[in-house]
This record gives sequence, C-alpha cells and structure tokens, in this order.
Amino acid sequence: MAEPVYAPDHLDKVINLAKRRGFIFPSAEIYGGFRSTYDYGPLGVNMLRNVKNAWWSAMVQRRQDVVGLDAAILSPPAIWAASGHLETFTDPLVDCKKCHERWREDKIDGVCPQCGSREFTEARAFNLMFKTQAGPVEGDGATAYLRPETAQGMFTNFANVLQTTRKKPPFGIAQIGKSFRNEITPGNFVFRTREFEQMEMEYFVPPAEAEEWYHYWIATRFAWYLDLGIPEDFLRQHVHAKEDLSHYSRGTTDVEFFYPWGWDELEGIANRGDYDLTQHSTHSGVRLEYFDQASGERYTPYVIEPAAGATRAMMAFLLAAYHEDEVGGETRALLRLDWRLAPYQVAVLPLSKKPELEGLATRVVDLLGAEYVVDTDVTQSIGKRYRRQDEVGTPYCVTVDFDSLEDDAVTVRDRDTTDQVRVPLAGLLTYLRDQTGRA
Ligand code: GAP
Repeated sequence: MAEPVYAPDHLDKVINLAKRRGFIFPSAEIYGGFRSTYDYGPLGVNMLRNVKNAWWSAMVQRRQDVVGLDAAILSPPAIWAASGHLETFTDPLVDCKKCHERWREDKIDGVCPQCGSREFTEARAFNLMFKTQAGPVEGDGATAYLRPETAQGMFTNFANVLQTTRKKPPFGIAQIGKSFRNEITPGNFVFRTREFEQMEMEYFVPPAEAEEWYHYWIATRFAWYLDLGIPEDFLRQHVHAKEDLSHYSRGTTDVEFFYPWGWDELEGIANRGDYDLTQHSTHSGVRLEYFDQASGERYTPYVIEPAAGATRAMMAFLLAAYHEDEVGGETRALLRLDWRLAPYQVAVLPLSKKPELEGLATRVVDLLGAEYVVDTDVTQSIGKRYRRQDEVGTPYCVTVDFDSLEDDAVTVRDRDTTDQVRVPLAGLLTYLRDQTGRA
C-alpha cells in the first residue's frame, strides 16, 4: 500500500489549531513554557477523555474477561527492582564534545543535531525513572519513583484481583493513567513527553495459549484504530527483531502510525511470558500463581500486554483527521474525527439571538445533551459558525431558525459533506442515533 502524503506544514497546522482552538497548550506558557510538557484545554480534555472512553469501552466494559484497576503513581523501589526497571530502563546518553548538548545516542545517527559535530563522549546508561522522596525525612527509606508505566500495578495486584473477582485465565486487568519518563529528547509535540497517559492491559493466559492470544491482541488492537477512523494506509505492524526486544519480552509487535516524520510507534503488543509474575513472586515472597481447581494444576500465567499511549493516540487521531478542502470557493480546515472522538458531537446554532430562537435552542440542547456532547454558538454569521465547528471536528450542526417556530423542525448539517436536511424535532434524536450508529 502506498504511504500517505502530508503537506509539508501539516504538523505545524495541527499544532497551531490545537493551541488556537483549546485542544493542547504548552504548559506554564506564561513563564515561558516548561520542557515539553503540555496542558489539555477545554476541547482537548473532551477529546482525550473520548479516546480513553473508547479504549475502556472496547477493552473493559464490553468484555467479560477484563476488569479495571487504578493503581498508585508513587511507588517503592522494590517494585522497580523486581520489574527490572532500576537496572535496565535506560537509554544511551552521549554529550556532544563541541556544543555540550546531550542526546540519545540511538536517535542521532552519529551527528549532533545542534552543531553537526561527530565527536561524542562514551555512551552511558541513563535511567529514565523520576526519583523523588515520600515523606518529610530524606534517605534511602524515603525513596519513591513516579511509575514509568502503568503495567506494574496490574502485576502487584494480581492476587488481589484473583481473590476479589474469581476470574480465571484467560483474563485481563486494564488501567488508564499517567506515567512519567525522564526522556532525554522529548519532542514532536505530544508524541514523546516526560509526562503522558497510558492505556495498558495485562492479559493472563495459560502458557500454552500465549502465542494464540498474542496474535489475537495484535489483530484486535490494530482493528480498534481502524474502527475509530484512522485510514488503513496510515497503519502498519512492525515485528521487533530478537535483539531489539525489551528485557521482559519474548515477542513484541508495534502498531505503527505514519506520522509527518515517517513510520513510528503508536502502541506495542508484547508477550511478556511469566517474567513479571515470577519476578514479583521472587522479590516479594508472595506466590503469584493460578491454581486450577478443576485440573488440580498450579501454574504461573503468561502475560500478553497491549500497551497504548492515550496522549500519543490523540495526536495520531488529530493528524489523520486534519484536512483542508474547498467549500463555496473558500478553503476550509476540518477535522474528520469519528463522532465518538470529537470534542463536541453536535452544535446547536440558533440563527439569531432572538429570545424565541434561543429558547427553542435550549430545548434542543436539553434533548440531545443526555446522549451527546453539545456545544452552542450564537455569535457571527451561520457560515462562520459552521467553519468554526468544522475546524474542531463537530460532526453535526443543528440550526434552529424562524421556520422552526412554525414547523417544529430543524436543519441538520453534516460536517464532511456539508449536506443539510430538515428534521422534525420529534425525530431528531432518532435521526442522530441512526447517523452515528448509536443503538
Ligand atoms: N508496559 C509496556 C510499555 O510501557 P512502551 O512501548 O514503553 O511499553 C507503551 O509504552 C506506549 O506508551 C507507547 O506505544 C506509546 O504510545 C506510549 N508512550 C511511551 N512513552 C511515551 C512518551 N514518552 N510520551 C508519550 N507516549 C509514550
């Protein structure tokens, strides 16, 4: 399949739109910004929540074999000693001998991106975990880490979840939450940041079934992005070579997305074997096994892990959705977002500020508000208001006009086609449910 083609300024336009329309702001901007951290604005928080809800719906809510968890972010060194992160969660750090800038050796092809020099110090292993202290007394006993992945919470709670839910393999524990990595070179907007959100699921299986479930989850996760509107030519699978595998992995396949800088990781699906449960069992002294009463067999389950980034996925959805086309002889920018991801799903637009129209518009907002995220906008011409909604991806605009007062009907406009249809108010919810495929 041919690779998609981006306009040269595609990324800049998306970053600009994200800032201008309240999706994503540089953090601490009034103080000059803070090291590749970002804040999610009124529209961004809606969209990010929609991404997470879509994941939770597919991975937990609509499955009987997966349960949820929300574990602590602050964690003791013991967890990270057992997981292998204290020893191996490192990137190779080099200093440029000319300009003294620090880089991740495996990302720069031997040339300093700042000054062009080819002379570097020897690479040293730089641990990516943020270390802090818990409580008012300093010292070894107070050391804590901000988790660099959500996964370990699922392993350390394996026995708790088994006991409280009576699940048996194959079953999964899922979690969405913040993770922190002291990345040497964060960048490309929210693609790689030091504080980000992950959506991870640890799926515990009988060892003999691991290979089958590994392939099941690769296919299932790939299909999730397609279902939410990422075109097929923007996605591919990348199987990691044996020598590139993480310390815990017996096999990893990435779902890759075609970013403006090329193919790069969106999500990783790994077969972690029995590495994690065995490590935590050895280090904690607590048995982390499954006892199958029917067969009398006791075993350590293998783990298949689909690990996605919520903030990175949101960026991919934005990049794939941004389009420009021509309407009425003018260029318009639009986000062709799936309605489930759009920050606003319907905009209700009274044609004028006359109290009768605004009153009717309020009734329409109340009618739709229980099922859809609704925005209203009364300022400027209707054409300008349509453009503003197109630009933030609102799939439907409902216009309330003077005829509405007579015929109890409204005009529904489709974002992508700009087609308009007159719909009776009594049938509006049914019409939108049909359009969005909402049962
Ligand atoms: N538990 C396995 C794990 O954490 P990973 O490949 O390091 O695996 C999973 O991370 C996903 O988390 C990535 O595919 C990516 O979407 C997201 N992610 C990782 N590091 C990130 C960062 N610095 N900024 C934004 N997202 C990140």
